[in-house]
Amino acid sequence: MDIRHNQVVILDFGSQYTRLIARRIREQQVYTEILPSDAPVEIIKKHNPKALILSGGPESVFSKKAPNYDEAIFDLDMPILGICYGMQLLVQHYGGKIEKSKVHEYGFENIDIIDQSSLLDNIPIKTNVWMSHSDFVAKIPENWAVVAKSSNDIIAAIENKTLKRFATQFHPEVNHTAKGTEILSNFLFKIAKCDQNWTVENFVNAKIESIRQQVPSSATVLTAVSGGVDSSVVAAFLNKAIGKRAKAVLVDHGLLRKNEAQNCRTSLKKNLGIAVEVVDDSKIFFKKLKGIRNPEKKRKIIGEQFIRSFEKFTKNQNIDYLAQGTLYTDVIESGGRGVSNTAKVIKSHHNVGGLPEDIKFELIEPLRDLFKDEVRNIGKLLGLPDSLLNRHPFPGPGLAVRVLGEVTKKRVKILQEADAIYIDILKNERIYDDIWQAFSVLIPVKTVGVMGDNRTYENVIALRAVTSLDGMTADWYRIPDKVLSKISNKIVNSVSGINRVVFDITSKPPGTIEWE
Ligand code: XMP
Repeated sequence: MDIRHNQVVILDFGSQYTRLIARRIREQQVYTEILPSDAPVEIIKKHNPKALILSGGPESVFSKKAPNYDEAIFDLDMPILGICYGMQLLVQHYGGKIEKSKVHEYGFENIDIIDQSSLLDNIPIKTNVWMSHSDFVAKIPENWAVVAKSSNDIIAAIENKTLKRFATQFHPEVNHTAKGTEILSNFLFKIAKCDQNWTVENFVNAKIESIRQQVPSSATVLTAVSGGVDSSVVAAFLNKAIGKRAKAVLVDHGLLRKNEAQNCRTSLKKNLGIAVEVVDDSKIFFKKLKGIRNPEKKRKIIGEQFIRSFEKFTKNQNIDYLAQGTLYTDVIESGGRGVSNTAKVIKSHHNVGGLPEDIKFELIEPLRDLFKDEVRNIGKLLGLPDSLLNRHPFPGPGLAVRVLGEVTKKRVKILQEADAIYIDILKNERIYDDIWQAFSVLIPVKTVGVMGDNRTYENVIALRAVTSLDGMTADWYRIPDKVLSKISNKIVNSVSGINRVVFDITSKPPGTIEWE
């Protein structure tokens, strides 16, 4: 079964909420993909969507910088939902009028439903929504209906049932919109008649089938594992699909957390019966990283060396396939297939953008369409234990992006020791599971301290802890003072080389989760 046949395409006009639209739709068990705003209509048609959504965006429709799009999208014979900027685009195209407003609506707003509406069917007449706009609809196109207005008398929702065009000025995808899920559900099921076939079970079955089709019965697949959730789920997939023809290998770059290689081996054997071979290539990685301080260079070097290590390992073994745990978010942040033609590379995630061009393997990436929480649900179904599924994410380049500046064995060791203490305390205090990701960062400066009667001049460690849904945005986690002081005391007193601990209170954006 092709579980994508029933999908919705989202055109991204640059809103910070575009990925949220995708998540909300998938939560309702409908597959969706985000395409750049200027995706040609021919490409959209290839997706064979049941409906199209035009996202919000930071520009004004009057702006010279307004994103491009293919005018032919408006001829598509399928329901279209415009959200915020998407609504203004629909209005402009169909002959209405957009104007700059004196009233800016940002944040919570009340709306009144003033006419019968398919999109707002069964929504209370007065409801709370999330607005974020300055332009507004001054005049709707002919034969359209205004179905909701805000308390500022601004048009909040319009539709034209005959054309199958619907639009909201507010953001139904944002949690603060009280009935957002119901509104999207009206669009998906009552208007676009989507089926709910994007389920964990269907995904697992379809993926196992597609792996079996992709890999010839004589071939062996190298499965790159790291001890993290994603690669463990990939290993479980491959194991289910092709059994022992999947060879799980952990390339130890020397940049893993303390005892990680051994823990990974034990855990996959115990929980899934998968035998992991550990290849210690740490010497080569450290040699290549010598003197390198630039974060992007580090990432590229590590991405490249990973592949070279796999190639070396498979030299006389006739292995043509490499399976790895690339996620949808990795693809997006590396500026790959996805959000926008002009998408900026934030970081080259090593399993996407950091890969060399001349890879001799064909890649198998069963998680490439998934968000992190979807991966966890799938892992559960594949039999992975909670202790593994609830582990915090760990980046492919490992501690190299947490040892700021030059990466040396000695500096990595200091970080490993401090980090082990930090994570242990979070677990003992039972707050580890409330945090999306926690880790320590070694800062390349020394500061003066005093221990006993002596002056010290040592390194600074930063603690990072964030909450997040999928790593795309994050807030810093409020670790209680008492716990922070316990962590700080223990690190400074027991890790030689550290005399100061600081706590990072930056959200994403404007920061990123990792420091490099
Ligand atoms: P940033 O730092 O971009 O991180 O806010 C978002 C999430 O992605 C993880 N991350 C990576 N994961 N390879 C990975 O597999 C990478 O190169 C990489 N870089 C960042 C990061 O730990 C966080 O969970």
